[in-house]
Amino acid sequence: MLPQRVDKPSILLVDDEPANLRILSEVLDGEYRLLVARDGATAVKLARAQLPDLILMDVVMPVMDGYTACQQIKTNDETSHIPVIFVSANSEVGDESKGFDVGAVDYIGKPISPAIVRARVKTHLSLVRVEELQRTRLQIVQRLGRAAEYRDNETGLHVLRMSHYAHLLALAAGWSEHAADELLHASPMHDIGKIGIPDRVLLKPTPLNEDDWRIMHKHPWIGAQIIGEHTSSMLRMAREVAFTHHERWDGQGYPRGLSQDGIPECGRIVAIADVFDALTSERPYKDAWPNEVALEYLQANAGRRFEPRLIELFLGLTERVFEIQQRWSEPEK
Ligand code: C2E
Ligand code: SIN
Ligand code: SIN
Ligand code: FE
Ligand code: FE
Repeated sequence: MLPQRVDKPSILLVDDEPANLRILSEVLDGEYRLLVARDGATAVKLARAQLPDLILMDVVMPVMDGYTACQQIKTNDETSHIPVIFVSANSEVGDESKGFDVGAVDYIGKPISPAIVRARVKTHLSLVRVEELQRTRLQIVQRLGRAAEYRDNETGLHVLRMSHYAHLLALAAGWSEHAADELLHASPMHDIGKIGIPDRVLLKPTPLNEDDWRIMHKHPWIGAQIIGEHTSSMLRMAREVAFTHHERWDGQGYPRGLSQDGIPECGRIVAIADVFDALTSERPYKDAWPNEVALEYLQANAGRRFEPRLIELFLGLTERVFEIQQRWSEPEK
């Protein structure tokens, strides 16, 4: 279910012919908040000032034509997300491709048919909603990942690096671009459950004792609870990653002691990405290890902690892994 908005969506109508503006206004009146402009330059200004949800734009106009106005709207960061639909006479439609080149999403021919205008407007507004929803969901998810990270790793760079390692490894393991992107977005939340771990354990500068471990071993389960159950495949993956990233190939991991193919592949991938970055980073309880030592550790644990096939793939990716590490290296203290 999409959230309901209390305010009406706003549409900017741009045409130099008052008669055309009147027709469009009659067609769309009631359901939308309408703004009007008589030329391209005014349209660009109004778009910036009012941030309408959609723009219906005539092509041939004095002062500034529709193509130029559309181009300016699309190259401005604040307005580039607003869909522009060109409304133009059939004789002008010969140059449809020019409209798409400057960033328009659609064309409506003149003379306009009220049913077509209403239908296209509705379609493009609902697409905007879906994109907005995905964008805000992704932002919240990334901020949650950073919140978890903030206590034992203040810069938030760990989640950036490890999620890119996981993305690389997923692609090497044969995942589609789409699935690997979902893992890229999902894996920053792997340690969200550390929110439920007290500072005296999480920030302890010395090795954990048995009681501490009992608490620490809860973080995958707490993470899964925090993320919850969802229909979005990205959030389902996030939950699975949080729950399974400390399972081991040999069944000696936690919280459930799953082994081999019983561990979801996303969890097996993130286990490697997470440990490689944890080893090569400073933590409250440890110094950073050199890359070679960390890679030796991974290799020595193939078939124990980690899936041998994935370790082999990871060891073949080190050049790109080091690039990611460089790109998001911790600032000098
Ligand atoms: P983390 O710091 O994000 O580390 C993730 C995983 O990387 C660890 O999972 C472990 O598999 C690996 N790792 C990190 N540092 C080392 C290390 O120095 N040596 C080795 N061999 N492996 C390392 P693990 O062990 O299940 O730990 C989960 C979380 O528990 C860690 O997340 C960290 O927050 C905490 N933790 C682990 N050991 C200690 C410790 O000695 N002192 C404190 N205060 N916290 C610890
Ligand atoms: C997103 O990336 O924000 C959405 C992905 C999804 O719905 O699965
Ligand atoms: C333990 O289970 O107490 C050891 C921690 C670990 O290496 O996962
Ligand atoms: Fe963890
Ligand atoms: Fe981690």
